[in-house]
Amino acid sequence: MIQEPTSSESAAESDFEPEATRRDAGAAESSRANRGWWDRNADEYQVEHGTFLGDDRFVWGPEGLDEVEAELLGAPEDLKDRRVLEIGAGAAQCSRWLAAQGARPVALDISHRQLQHALRIGGSFPLVCADAGALPFADASFDLACSAYGALPFVADPVRVLTEVRRVLRPGGRFVFSVTHPIRWAFPDEPGPEGLSVSASYFDRTPYVEQDEQGRAVYVEHHRTIGDRVRDIAASGFRLVDLVEPEWPAWNTSEWGGWSPLRGNLIPGTAIFVCVRD
Ligand SMILES: C[S@@+](CC[C@H](N)C(=O)[O-])C[C@H]1O[C@@H](n2cnc3c(N)ncnc32)[C@H](O)[C@@H]1O
Repeated sequence: MIQEPTSSESAAESDFEPEATRRDAGAAESSRANRGWWDRNADEYQVEHGTFLGDDRFVWGPEGLDEVEAELLGAPEDLKDRRVLEIGAGAAQCSRWLAAQGARPVALDISHRQLQHALRIGGSFPLVCADAGALPFADASFDLACSAYGALPFVADPVRVLTEVRRVLRPGGRFVFSVTHPIRWAFPDEPGPEGLSVSASYFDRTPYVEQDEQGRAVYVEHHRTIGDRVRDIAASGFRLVDLVEPEWPAWNTSEWGGWSPLRGNLIPGTAIFVCVRD
């Protein structure tokens, strides 16, 4: 049972400054680290980004591309009664929008604390605490699946996640997911001009790891090139039908970490993959 967070309750505070490095991190270490990181940081994340995300909007990334205009899952009228799995749902803002269109979403996340925020905001759809690499659902139990920056940037074995998502989709189903645009890995993660000069090899797949004094990972992000992502999608049996690179819109003056109007007008920040399960 997921309980709503109270104002007096807060996730465990960390009292160490993690060291940022690039090193290998396997599937189990990445999962454990990221579950802990999102549990510890969910409160701050929702305070910082909750207004931009909106409680019941479906935003694909920091550019602010909204599913209302993108229609990557299909026309809103076709979402009615569709069973939709949201992977790495966080506070389930996207699922709330889907429910408002008449769809039947299930919001899955590895972080209990993120799902507590989903419960706090409200909605009458299931919340499931699980790893995207082992989905607790029967084969072909969903019509659609989606993920806005959930799970895929954080897992060591994306083919495993994609294979699992394909398994739970019915034939003809579609999976749309967004991740940090791979080109971003060649630049410092800074919103200002310092984030405009190449500082690392785009081809270096070594994960970004934050670790504690004992060398245990406390946060992990995994880099795949565009070609890697295409091959991962094909290896899992999906057919890639579109790759969307949202342009930075004039109305968006917000910064989100290393995403900013300055950089967004020059280089892509988000890649959205549209995949079909034949
Ligand atoms: C950047 S948030 C995206 C959530 C939401 N779409 C948003 O924009 O706030 C990433 C989410 O992915 C979840 N996540 C990370 N690794 C995961 C995994 N292996 N399985 C399921 N969820 C995962 C995190 O707990 C977090 O809630």
